[in-house]
Amino acid sequence: MDEKTLSRYNSPEGATDYVGKFDRRWTERINDWNEQRLLRRLLHSAGVEKVPGVALDLPCGCGRLYPIVREVADRVVEGDWSFHMLLEARLSASSGNSPGPASGFVRGTALTLPFIDRAFDFVLSVRLCHHIGEHAERIQYVWEVMRVSGKWLVFTYFDQTSLKNRLREFNRRFNGKRAKRTLHPSEVAALARSAGFDVVRSVPMSRLFSGHRYAVLRRKGDIPASAPERSLTT
Ligand SMILES: C[S@@+](CC[C@H](N)C(=O)[O-])C[C@H]1O[C@@H](n2cnc3c(N)ncnc32)[C@H](O)[C@@H]1O
Repeated sequence: MDEKTLSRYNSPEGATDYVGKFDRRWTERINDWNEQRLLRRLLHSAGVEKVPGVALDLPCGCGRLYPIVREVADRVVEGDWSFHMLLEARLSASSGNSPGPASGFVRGTALTLPFIDRAFDFVLSVRLCHHIGEHAERIQYVWEVMRVSGKWLVFTYFDQTSLKNRLREFNRRFNGKRAKRTLHPSEVAALARSAGFDVVRSVPMSRLFSGHRYAVLRRKGDIPASAPERSLTT
């Protein structure tokens, strides 16, 4: 993530701003509503039901998707690099509308997650990949979220093949804007294969209006349920 965006997220103003982002404009409210509906449908259609172990929501931001993660797991760890986002997530998880408190809040970077291999039965990682500037770091990020998942991983990335990216690439010839930080779906499929996952769902957030793609990965083979007493951290 570029320094400017990261420091914005990692500031009280940036975190407060992100809390209000999905309420301020009707377009953002619709986007948020659509995204949450898409995520619930994806989980349902992929067969992601209640998992016995712990789930990780990272980056959790202000906890926007925490209620959905709680539908999948009773124990959820909220993680982010920004202390201020974590504070907002904690406030939101203890509010009256929350499905209940989170099991923990962890400050850590998605590029080197402070958890043991397969610590979680379910990992959700939304809207981070497209902020990571270097391609090699985007790959490292995908490896990390796969590494800590024992069963399910749901994450988003900016799709190189999306209409939005193609238009951006075309327009870049004239406006000089930077390239989007993308991954190719075939690259994600190859990464998943080599880490022992199947890509069971891969859907665009919106074919016309967004370049983001949701991928649902499931680890192959028999997965032992996480032991509740086991320490998750490295
Ligand atoms: C666009 S927000 C997404 C938050 C949440 N997943 C959502 O969809 O509402 C991006 C989040 O990534 C966090 N972040 C940035 N770089 C990170 C990193 N290297 N590791 C973990 N979190 C990071 C930011 O602090 C911010 O909360």
